[in-house]
Amino acid sequence: FFDGAENKPLAGRKMIVTAGPTHEPIDPVRYIANRSSGKQGYAIARALAKLGAAVTLVSGPTRLPEPEGVTSVQVESAKDMLAATEAALPADAAIFAAAVADWRVASAADQKIKKQDGDLPDLKLAENPDILATISQLSEGRPNLVVGFAAETQNVLENARLKLGRKKCDWIIANDVSPETGTFGGDDNRVHILNGEGNQTLPLMSKEDVATALAARIAEFFHGK
Ligand code: CTP
Ligand code: CA
Repeated sequence: FFDGAENKPLAGRKMIVTAGPTHEPIDPVRYIANRSSGKQGYAIARALAKLGAAVTLVSGPTRLPEPEGVTSVQVESAKDMLAATEAALPADAAIFAAAVADWRVASAADQKIKKQDGDLPDLKLAENPDILATISQLSEGRPNLVVGFAAETQNVLENARLKLGRKKCDWIIANDVSPETGTFGGDDNRVHILNGEGNQTLPLMSKEDVATALAARIAEFFHGK
């Protein structure tokens, strides 16, 4: 068979993809979560592996099967996702498709919280570590290409460009996740790729096709490097 550099332009490259939501424990039986399905991140992991990359998928809890040909690491919380991502370094590229919970309960209870005659539990929140910003700003061992996502419900491009600057990643993949778009948890996605050179808007397509297009762009980035 012909299976050389043409078909596997990312052979020999290591890539990390985060995907899915995180679950932040309240007590042993309850958690804070979000509606992320993990579909877009899983599709990206598969598309990169198809181009020959050695992919580690760091995934929060989803209903998706672990993709074949990819190393999967399953985590629950944002803190665990950060630790698993750091453990997967070094990498040539890191793609942060996870919908990381912004907050966790400051001190999760060891035992199930019981109702107490109308006395409501007082859940104090703490901010989670920003995994993308942490990896983007590593002084040593930073991946050559760091890609973030920006899920927005308004002013998509403006908010995404602010995120690109704030987090110091190389590319931001922005998308509109307003409920009427059906993007968050759905099968289709319309994304904008933002970087130092400008913005590029891809047509509405399946998350599989977004992943294929993105993997091709990543292969282009590494071509000749
Ligand atoms: N991200 C991350 N760790 C976090 C929060 C976000 O790695 N604790 C990553 C996401 O995976 C995504 C990017 O940062 O690639 C942007 O996530 P988003 O939730 O849009 O950004 P936030 O900075 O959390 O801003 P917002 O207030 O809009 O939620
Ligand atoms: Ca967020």
